[in-house]
Amino acid sequence: MAEIDKEKVVAVLNQILESELAGVVRYTHYSFLVFGFGRIPIVSWLREQADESLLHAQQVGEWITTIGAYPSLAIGPLLDSHTFDIASILRESLQSENVALGLYRDLLALVEDRSVALEEFARQMIHTEEMHAGEVDKMLRRPGEMTTSVERQTGKA
Ligand SMILES: [Fe+2]
Repeated sequence: MAEIDKEKVVAVLNQILESELAGVVRYTHYSFLVFGFGRIPIVSWLREQADESLLHAQQVGEWITTIGAYPSLAIGPLLDSHTFDIASILRESLQSENVALGLYRDLLALVEDRSVALEEFARQMIHTEEMHAGEVDKMLRRPGEMTTSVERQTGKA
């Protein structure tokens, strides 16, 4: 088995760490801005997402020190669109989640056939993040709408 390119792997892990930490702040921030009848379940869903992002950030940070590198103290880009509209909040979250998903895919490409444990971790996270994106996509559909928002955007439906 070939060795991992430590520098490249750490660079991607640090980008993921920053993006997950941004997720913690983003979901927490949005959880303050939900008003209306649907508030209670939506606030708790957003807070769960914040907790999950924190867990992911902790797992990624542990990986960075496990392979002998220094975890970033920075945080990924945060865009405050000043929106109170749940659909816009969800669309923005979906976009950020897709960025994170892309980073986990980059990680997988770097560790595939080089580190069983890191490969397993990357695959697990891709699975989790894809299921999460699918869930958000369903929340963005109207009842009875079978096509995904990606299909609608790319005109495939
Ligand atoms: Fe995550």
